[in-house]
Amino acid sequence: MSIEGIPGQINIDFVKAWMEPRVSAKRFKHVIGVAKVASKIAAAYGCDSYLAELGGWLHDACKEEKDKVLVQKAREFKIPFTQVEEQYGHLLHGPVGACVVREELGITHEELLAAIAEHTLGNVPMSKLSEVLYLADCLEESRPSDYTAPIWASLSLDDEINVEKAMVTASDLGLLHLMETARPIHPRAVEVRNHYLAKLRARTDLES
Ligand SMILES: [Fe+2]
Ligand SMILES: [Fe+2]
Repeated sequence: MSIEGIPGQINIDFVKAWMEPRVSAKRFKHVIGVAKVASKIAAAYGCDSYLAELGGWLHDACKEEKDKVLVQKAREFKIPFTQVEEQYGHLLHGPVGACVVREELGITHEELLAAIAEHTLGNVPMSKLSEVLYLADCLEESRPSDYTAPIWASLSLDDEINVEKAMVTASDLGLLHLMETARPIHPRAVEVRNHYLAKLRARTDLES
């Protein structure tokens, strides 16, 4: 299979072997789960399942880097960041991961790289591939079911898929968790939530 922006030697076995030594066994299990769910959601959502699976395998490439290393790498890659990210460097693992994937694997597929970059905070707007990866990261099977069940219910994968509703539910649960644990909220998380709430309202108005 040849996809522009994905070098010929890159395939699922290749990215699996590249990822495994980069993360702990626990994280690798999460990565396996995200790749599986991403492929499943993509198939139902008319999105490329292979790209979604690749994104699942690669999304946490830099998740286990230390906060200060992520801030340093963001500077080196000239990734713009705010004070919140400087203070909570782990928020940069998506954007830094996308740059590392580009540099080390030669992947230049911009939509795939954006999906990797956006998987933690989301973005406005997001491509279908980005939405799939964001949701798959939330829905991976080792996450607690009181978190995943409402998102699965909103997504209604086996009926008429409702990505907007699932994005709102995932955002709401994420924001609630940040408030309950007294952690700062990145302004983009609020923008993403409001964006999908507006999209969901527009969709509901159309359907009624
Ligand atoms: Fe992540
Ligand atoms: Fe993840």
